[in-house]
Amino acid sequence: MPISYSPEKKIFSLHTDRSTYQLAVDGFGALLHLYYGARCEGEAEYLLTFADRGFSGNPYAAGDDRTWSYDALPQEFPAWGSGDFRAPCLGVRAADGTAGCALRYREHEILPGKYALPGLPAAYAEDGDEAETLKIELSDERLGLSVTLLYGVLPHCDVITRSVIVQNRGEETLTLGRLQSACLDFVGGDYDLVTFPGRYALERQFDRRELGRGTHAIGSRRGYSSHQYNPFVILCDRDATESAGRVWGMELVWSGGFLAEAERDQLSQTRLSIGMDEVQTAYPLAPGESICAPEVILSYSAAGFERLSHNLHRCLRSRVRRGRYREERTPILLNSWEASYFDFTGESLLTLAEGAAKLGVEMLVMDDGWFGARRDDKSSLGDWTVNEEKLGMPLGELARRVNALGLKFGIWMEPEMISEDSELCRAHPDWVLAVPGQAPVRSRSQLVLDFSREEVREHIFRAICAVLDSANIEYLKWDLNRSIADVYSHAAPDQGRVLYQNMLGVYEVLEKLCARYPDLLIEGCSGGGGRFDAGMLHYCPQIWCSDNTDAIDRLFIQHGTSFGYPAVSVGSHVSICPNHQTGRTTPFETRGAVAAAGTFGYELDPAQLTGEECAAVKEQIAAYKADAALVRDGFYYRLSDPAKDVCCAWVFVAEDGSEARLSAVLREKHANEPAHYIRLRGLTPGARYRARETGRVYSVDALMDAGLPLPLDCREYGSFTLHLERE
Ligand code: DGJ
Repeated sequence: MPISYSPEKKIFSLHTDRSTYQLAVDGFGALLHLYYGARCEGEAEYLLTFADRGFSGNPYAAGDDRTWSYDALPQEFPAWGSGDFRAPCLGVRAADGTAGCALRYREHEILPGKYALPGLPAAYAEDGDEAETLKIELSDERLGLSVTLLYGVLPHCDVITRSVIVQNRGEETLTLGRLQSACLDFVGGDYDLVTFPGRYALERQFDRRELGRGTHAIGSRRGYSSHQYNPFVILCDRDATESAGRVWGMELVWSGGFLAEAERDQLSQTRLSIGMDEVQTAYPLAPGESICAPEVILSYSAAGFERLSHNLHRCLRSRVRRGRYREERTPILLNSWEASYFDFTGESLLTLAEGAAKLGVEMLVMDDGWFGARRDDKSSLGDWTVNEEKLGMPLGELARRVNALGLKFGIWMEPEMISEDSELCRAHPDWVLAVPGQAPVRSRSQLVLDFSREEVREHIFRAICAVLDSANIEYLKWDLNRSIADVYSHAAPDQGRVLYQNMLGVYEVLEKLCARYPDLLIEGCSGGGGRFDAGMLHYCPQIWCSDNTDAIDRLFIQHGTSFGYPAVSVGSHVSICPNHQTGRTTPFETRGAVAAAGTFGYELDPAQLTGEECAAVKEQIAAYKADAALVRDGFYYRLSDPAKDVCCAWVFVAEDGSEARLSAVLREKHANEPAHYIRLRGLTPGARYRARETGRVYSVDALMDAGLPLPLDCREYGSFTLHLERE
């Protein structure tokens, strides 16, 4: 069984196929963390060491034993005011402002299946046997506080999930000032911390740093997971590489603000924690009220970053994403944004669709600008009525005519936002998040709707349904184009809950849409990839990875994204050159190769393509369709680091090793330069592989050892693709 409990030692052991996680109840009822690492049998309590650490106090019940200190021992869910002075998971104040908290074990349950969370996205199991759940209840009797720790074990994904429900069972309102979903305490070792910082149009850049004494924190206070930091962090051995070394990942299933912290303490022990930002500034918990922290997906790899990525890819791909497109290939789409921005009519879209249909594209997406009086980004968000005057026809007719060309039809919306210049804002100014007496922060000339209010959610849900029901719409791009700055709801009795309730409100609307339109493909988007997180993937099988469609910049963005997220969820399109974001010109073939490492589509006007490029599109589409299963189910190997290597390469390898697709892009070229050798990984050792393009047969061991030279005639920004089939 994945979860076991030893009553003599009071130790819980959680096993996945390749990892073990252990925690223990100590003699005073506190919960200690013991171990998270390679799968092992037996208990690891011997890892705990005891010494009188001056100025690290002891629980009163320990009497004269000065060696028992919660400031030094590894903790499972540390609370502020418990004698542990490191970064806590829980910070709670009683009504009189006191911050003391001593959580003690009350009871536990081991249940079949994987727990679900109220109103929150979470990983799931397909059937009862696939997962197990451990629930441990802790309490602080003085505060009347109950803390239920939840653990889900998905052995075959090599993943353990955690979450926590905090409930006030007392008689006075408590205030949460901090609630991390989980922490991992490491008793020894020297580690590097890997995070994925970025900015608009350059999201998720790989950032690795040595973790020194003190705390390194990243996060988002923006009300969404953000372009600037991603809610996914890795701790690894200093010498860990792609294929060697110990690596731990924490991935938050949450799309709001977050906080991730890594602390190396006085004894060189390390604590890594992650949770939402929304409660960090006084979240009120009234008597009887509870709050559920978002889930964290934990995974451990003893074989470097790539195995960690493979574990997470499998889990997100098939146990977080849902619906029809979990297994099915999503349609190859052409999006109108870079083709015409706001400047389109129904007829011009039909011209795009005609061009797209001739090339083999499967869906036309009408982006921003089809509703209300929207001519630019200054008005009409919230007015989700079709601008028939602009389109020159009803939406139903447009969709019908697009369908008649053999294409599916999709649309863009930004449901969480409101323009001041909109009928909705004029009718309901109090539906905007804005602090009374303080002018709100404008961003992209827009304000934020208050999704913490039921009537707002209901109105927007109905508005979306009215549009979806009016035409054959098979795809919805759900966008979000600003941060939340003014956190005030006109309907909230206490403003401390608003951000959390707002995020839950967004999830509620998405959930209702998924239930009502099971065949609808929702693509997440936030000014590109600003809300690329496991929470959104529960509702949106794919997310637009970045507004930056430049193939060279995308090498960096998709490289960083690949550490935590599967390629099948990465929205990526071929666009026109010079590229609209960077002005760079790259070969059409290279743009295709880079986009083919994701969902694949186009973001251009086919009328602007040369005859040669049109022929290339047809080939790219046929090739992508042929490789779709490889991209969806295959293992993705990063063969380079774009920040260091000018030859950027990656390979998708079928789970059974029978085939692979290698892609490489030369991002910098010098005259008379040495050959670049690409060393493959993941192929079946000892086997021989035939290259489909050349018929040449390779001994795989040499391919993985010495590598394959990138053809010397590859130009700057040129690319190279090779399909390998096992003989
Ligand atoms: C931001 C998105 O990332 C773009 O693709 C496009 O949909 C615009 N918004 C439309 O306003």
